[in-house]
Amino acid sequence: MSTNLDIKALTPRDITARKGQAPLVSLTAYTTPMARLVDAHCDIVLVGDSVGMVVHGLPSTLQVTLEMMILHGRAVRRGVERALLVVDMPFGTYEESPQQAFRTAARLMAETEAGAVKLEGGETMAETIGFLTRRGIPVMAHIGLTPQAVNTLGGYRVQGRGDDAERILRDGLAVAEAGAFAVVVEKVPGALAARLTADCPIPTIGIGASAACDGQILVIDDMLGAFTAFRPKFVKQYADLAEIAGGAIAAYAADVRERRFPGPEHAFADAVGAKRPANGA
Ligand code: KIV
Repeated sequence: MSTNLDIKALTPRDITARKGQAPLVSLTAYTTPMARLVDAHCDIVLVGDSVGMVVHGLPSTLQVTLEMMILHGRAVRRGVERALLVVDMPFGTYEESPQQAFRTAARLMAETEAGAVKLEGGETMAETIGFLTRRGIPVMAHIGLTPQAVNTLGGYRVQGRGDDAERILRDGLAVAEAGAFAVVVEKVPGALAARLTADCPIPTIGIGASAACDGQILVIDDMLGAFTAFRPKFVKQYADLAEIAGGAIAAYAADVRERRFPGPEHAFADAVGAKRPANGA
């Protein structure tokens, strides 16, 4: 946790107050070094349960545990000073009842020192969102494509097309009414995202939901090109880390095999006081 008391981190209230203003910028992070890089540019840093897929190689987010979220939440906390830190509630730890959700959220907040939690679901989770917010736990909701429901949704498909749009609108209004401070809207048509953003009193944070939203979020490994298992259409890739890292690893392997690495500058003298290499190592 940051000990610099001069730096004031953004709060859920600050995020809600940004409704309709300059777009909110958000990315996921799972480690301390990456959290530091993201914190310098983002309003919200999310420890997403996408960590299960992009870091742990799991087949979906359904296998992610509370212990994993706490571990990564603590790591990210050490790198975040300015942004609002939000941690995902993993599948199976909150859906049963508001009381179960409170116990999970209280652990997440206490053990990671996050500023808020995120949970998936619209109307069906409104009661739980109200229960949590009335008890001091800020909630960011997540509607549209909710990856924890991949099995009932029948895949990672676009939500809210045609008549289904009304369901997404109801979900957005229900979570706002229940007290969520912002809502992630995933993989819905742009026109629907625009309607929802106009009608919904809290900021909409889009992922695959067009520029009409009040803000945007992406999975960091997707936008850096580090996660190559699949590339969603809605991701703009800003770097090709897989290619850069692959090239660097290949160069290292070749250097070791040809005895080009380590060089004299990476080795140690045999006696204390002997002349050190210029880099002082
Ligand atoms: O888990 C995650 O990274 C998320 C974002 C995609 C919004 O929920």
